[in-house]
Order: sequence, then structure tokens, then C-alpha cells
Amino acid sequence: MITTYDISKTFYDSKRGEIHAVCPTSIAIRKSEIFGLLGPNGAGKTTLLRMLSTVLSPTTGTATINSLNLLKNQEQIKKNIGFLSGNTRLYGRLSPRELLDYFGALYEISPQQIKIRTTKIFDMLDMWEFVDQRIEKLSTGQTQKTSVARTILHDPPIYILDEPTLGLDILTGRTIIQFIRDSAAQGKTILFSTHYMEEAEMLCDRIALMHQGEILDIDTLDNLKIKKNKYHLADVFMAFIKEAP
Ligand SMILES: Nc1ncnc2c1ncn2[C@@H]1O[C@H](COP(=O)(O)OP(=O)(O)OP(=O)(O)O)[C@@H](O)[C@H]1O
Ligand SMILES: [Mg+2]
Repeated sequence: MITTYDISKTFYDSKRGEIHAVCPTSIAIRKSEIFGLLGPNGAGKTTLLRMLSTVLSPTTGTATINSLNLLKNQEQIKKNIGFLSGNTRLYGRLSPRELLDYFGALYEISPQQIKIRTTKIFDMLDMWEFVDQRIEKLSTGQTQKTSVARTILHDPPIYILDEPTLGLDILTGRTIIQFIRDSAAQGKTILFSTHYMEEAEMLCDRIALMHQGEILDIDTLDNLKIKKNKYHLADVFMAFIKEAP
């Protein structure tokens, strides 16, 4: 569903000079897979996800998203993905229900379809309790659920989620994790980033370990553990970093 071909991003900063945020990267993510990008702060996760979401153009390389060329079919790609970023915009004066009705109309989804979609989303994300409250009065977790809901309203086949559980308590985090699992079971392809080892362990079919712009390895959790003869993913990660050039 997502294939990247030596995609990379270099930023130029007057103070720091050239920053290789993402070194040439080739990954292939299958349909219905839960694929995790795991890496510490500054690893390049957000930059990679922003490129794949057409928000940022690559310095080199390209990708195909659901067989669409990243450099040529950006408008179509946007219909195929739901991208959750740290700064998804919501309108504080609206309630989650009003917000989704508004974006549904923008996407030209019929009112009946919006009703069906939002009912399903409110169930999956356990949102009913607050769907009619103003967004500006919601808690962090409730706001994040609303952002996720807005991200997937148009029912895209691919979800690209940048740190979807960042700053959430364990209950809300678990709801999001279960939501990701259920979505994959329903056929969605999920690419998400995290720096929580535990989350990657619980959720991912395959994990890409990312550090300083480089993908150190991509494999299943079990294979990664076997390769480094370690039990905990954190130890596996450290073993890879020590060997990195
Ligand atoms: N617009 C930009 N201009 C210059 N440098 C940038 C820009 N965006 C990101 N970077 C740099 O690129 C590198 C990768 O950043 P990125 O945000 O992709 O990492 P990340 O893995 O998402 O980190 P975090 O876990 O903190 O979100 C960092 O060194 C960052 O400072
Ligand atoms: Mg980030």
C-alpha cells in the first residue's frame, strides 16, 4: 500500500547547516498492516510521515501510496490517506459532532453517510459522552479522539498517525490502540510513529527502528529480539544504536 524509494529530506538551517532529517529510505508496507516507526526525539519520524502525506516534498526519491505516485498525484493521495499530525486544526466553538458534520460537508459526503460514519467513529473511539460539548472545553484525551475522528472521517484506506497517543493517559491511550487494531482488522493500512517501546510491542506487525534519520532495521518484534538476543525492545533498540556507523 505504501512503498518508498530512497525517499529523503534534508533541511538547511542557518545555524545548524545541513540537517539530514531522513536519509534515503526504502520501505514497503502491506495492506492491512500495522507498521510502526519507532525512534527517539529528532529521529525523523514526523518528517518521513509529512512527506508521505504530501505536506512536505522530498529532497530526493519518491513513493507510491495505494499505487499513486507521490510526486504526481497529490490530490488523489489526500483522498486515500488520513493524516493525524500534532497540529490537526479543530474549532473550539464547535462540538465534535458539529465539527465532523462541517468537515463531512466539505468532503461532500451526504448527510446520511456522515451520520453512519460518525456513529461508527463515536462507538470505536468511545466518544459519546462528550460529542455535544464544545471542543474548547474538552480534556487532552477527548481532544485527541476528536482529532483522530476528523482524520478518518472520509474513510480513507490508509491511516498515517504521528504519535497518536502522545501525552494521553493509559485509558485513552488504550482506546486509541484498540481503535488502531480494530481498524487494521477492518482492512485499513496503518503507519504510525511512536517513541513508546511498549506501544510498538503491543501493536505492530512490523517495526522500523529509526535513529538520526536512518532506518536501522525493519522487522517483526520477534525477529528483532532474536537478531539481538534481547528480550525487551528497548534493549534491542540500544543494541542497534551501538552498532550503527
Ligand atoms: N522545518 C524544519 N527545518 C529545519 N530542521 C527541521 C525541520 N523539521 C525538522 N527538522 C529537523 O529534522 C530532524 C528530524 O525531526 P523530526 O521532527 O522529523 O523528528 P521526530 O522523530 O518526529 O522527533 P520527535 O519525536 O521529537 O517528534 C530534527 O533534527 C529536526 O530538528
Ligand atoms: Mg515528531
